[in-house]
Amino acid sequence: METVVSGIRPTGHLHLGNYFGAIKNFIRMQHEHTCFFFIADYHSLTTHPTPEDLHGNVKKVIAEYLACGIDPDVATLYVQSDVREVAELYLLLNMNAYTGELERCTSFKEKIRKQPDNINAGLLTYPTLMAADIILHKATKVPVGKDQEQHLEMTRTFANRFNRMYKTEYFPEPHAFNFGEALIKIPGLDGTTKMGKSDNNAIYLIDDPKTIQKKVMRAVTDAGPEKENQEKPQAIQNLFDLMLVVSSPDTNTHFNELYNSCKIRYGDMKKQIAEDIIKFTAPLREKINEISANETLIANVARQGKEKAHASAAKTMKEVREIIGFKEW
Ligand code: TRP
Repeated sequence: METVVSGIRPTGHLHLGNYFGAIKNFIRMQHEHTCFFFIADYHSLTTHPTPEDLHGNVKKVIAEYLACGIDPDVATLYVQSDVREVAELYLLLNMNAYTGELERCTSFKEKIRKQPDNINAGLLTYPTLMAADIILHKATKVPVGKDQEQHLEMTRTFANRFNRMYKTEYFPEPHAFNFGEALIKIPGLDGTTKMGKSDNNAIYLIDDPKTIQKKVMRAVTDAGPEKENQEKPQAIQNLFDLMLVVSSPDTNTHFNELYNSCKIRYGDMKKQIAEDIIKFTAPLREKINEISANETLIANVARQGKEKAHASAAKTMKEVREIIGFKEW
């Protein structure tokens, strides 16, 4: 039994990439480990959301996580800003985080490019807040994708630095969760990148059948294969990858054979993929809508998560304060 922590920034609806990339594993993991899943609303302030957007987006994620099968009686599902201890740990970690190492972080450099008019200190110290999220519960496993590897590496650096500085072995080293299989990456519909909400290439769990159909039919393809058994270009491979997670093995074989014999009609394949996505997401969408309409349920889940996460966080911070040399008067 390990302690697992994972956060998601509340910046919109969950898409198929979130589902097959992470959430599906959360559902499984929650029964095998002590899991803390939280909504990183402090982190999301780096992009300056309005109060309405912020609260609405937090509720969206709670409703969608619940609909997907995260059980708040089994895992701890909470909102980052509900557990203030993380802000204190973030402050303390910042005292031993060097500006040089923060500035070298790839995600920071990317943000400088993406939002040159808002390079705030929260962006620079994003990795220390993320480290605080993780070590606050003394987690050893963090289920994240490749893009978060560097943040995790920095978390290990900060945890080890704390231990060395105070001659203790207080914080364990957190490592990426290994699912025992390659992390499934869901491609986007634009032919190049993976599915992500910042790109206009996602299918959301909440999308209605018409929207799904339209999005899939618009997905990038080409003029078709020219030789039998030829390698698939990226955009086509993406569609096949998507089909692999939503369609039956028979469907996959069928369209692969058509491609390999140059008889494929992308329109037919897209229609099939759209149909299979709709079949898959329909019950989820129904549940999301039902839960979203139940404000009391959402509030109760948040409160329950807050209590559980707070118990864990308060214990850590009491010990950390002692280690650092703060005294209770
Ligand atoms: N940085 C993560 C992302 O953008 C979100 C996150 C914040 C996180 N704190 C975390 C993930 C702690 C895992 C653990 O995806």
